[in-house]
Amino acid sequence: MSIWSPSSWRKKPILQQPTYPNQDELNKVLSELKNYPPLVFAGEVRTLKSQLANVANGNAFLLQGGDCAESFSEFHADNIRDSFKAMMQMAVVMTYAGGLPVVKVGRIAGQFAKPRSSDTETFDGVTLASYRGDIINGSEFTAEARIPDPRRMVKAYNQASATQNLLRAFASGGLADLHQVHQWTQDFAHQGAVSEKYEALAEEIGKSLKFMEACGITSKTYRTLRETDFYTSHEALLLPYEEAFTRKDSTTDEWYDTSAHMLWIGDRTRQLDGAHVEYLRGVKNPIGVKAGPTMDPEDLVKLAQTLNPENEAGRLNVIVRMGAGKVGDGLPNLIKAVEREGLKVVWSCDPMHGNTIKSSNNYKTRPVDAILTEMKEFFQVHKAEGTFGGGVHLEMTGKNVTECIGGSFTVTEEDLSSRYHTHCDPRLNADQSLELAFLIADSLKEGQK
Ligand code: PEP
Ligand code: CO
Repeated sequence: MSIWSPSSWRKKPILQQPTYPNQDELNKVLSELKNYPPLVFAGEVRTLKSQLANVANGNAFLLQGGDCAESFSEFHADNIRDSFKAMMQMAVVMTYAGGLPVVKVGRIAGQFAKPRSSDTETFDGVTLASYRGDIINGSEFTAEARIPDPRRMVKAYNQASATQNLLRAFASGGLADLHQVHQWTQDFAHQGAVSEKYEALAEEIGKSLKFMEACGITSKTYRTLRETDFYTSHEALLLPYEEAFTRKDSTTDEWYDTSAHMLWIGDRTRQLDGAHVEYLRGVKNPIGVKAGPTMDPEDLVKLAQTLNPENEAGRLNVIVRMGAGKVGDGLPNLIKAVEREGLKVVWSCDPMHGNTIKSSNNYKTRPVDAILTEMKEFFQVHKAEGTFGGGVHLEMTGKNVTECIGGSFTVTEEDLSSRYHTHCDPRLNADQSLELAFLIADSLKEGQK
């Protein structure tokens, strides 16, 4: 294999990139970014990798979730706090009811660039370049907004950095303390079967904590009761940006992408000889690869060998996104090929991207039933194959949005217009996410192995 460098991807075919009109300006921004401080540290990335190795070995579960696309306009402390709380709620359900530690990874603090099915978009007879995420261009439907602007990378970095800062504060400053288990419930979620189920679980945890306190185990004395590890991730799509944050760790002399703890390759950019695979094979972060219905089992094997040549547990996460009803067709052959070669991977399920539909009133939406069905099918296939379905990858928010239909509060097609805020794909709201967490906990409890 040819020699890797942070810029060796530039010699490979690349998809889904903007064409910046002003190359001088682009280069100026990139050299500026190269001097900016990293957002994460190599030691943290290694800790995440060791936790993901536990997932690969069936001893922990991966919860990865957050916005489809972060945006400049929805940047607010409350949104970050609510996403954090929703993840904490889901994690506590899976840990307590499911009996496994949960590794928490947000799609946050850098999830700005979006692959698109078409380069252009037509509306009322007008055709413009597609919106590619706030790090690249603007979502407004005007020719000007759609011009790629490299300065947006600086703004995205600053937002990611402030978000990361707040997440670190939440993770270690009190909000993650298990005694807060009641406070993680959102203000709007005080009704319905899922909330009741959660409150009952929170009561039980409260009793356990009281008992432990009587034995001298308190938040003051035990870090794991008062703090959590919360990691960041995004799709490594905009490679000039990722290259600018590729830094050599001085303690190990290894390269890390310091824009996030974990990065993934999308279903549209996972070509073996493509630029995205070339870039990610050289950095030491844990990486994900999306696997949709067109993923060929032998290609997955080659991808795994290229991206994880040392077959290190915790390095590679295969994020399966077949669509409800299609998991039984696509997943068994992927698992068989990986098992045949003895490859160590974390298998997780993205039940979102294979289940997107248009509602009759023209909203992009996802039926919660299809999402729950795909998740169940994922666990069933793993059980049948004797492997461990170790994670979930979600587009979700802690807000009371109405973007996916169904769920315990029964969001209807008519409701979609009332609180539809996403900048890209429809997200599960806090209740719908919690419902999914209980389903996952039940599967974990049954033991899939
Ligand atoms: C995404 O995760 O937002 C995404 C675009 O997914 P995929 O690459 O699986 O289509
Ligand atoms: Co999406």
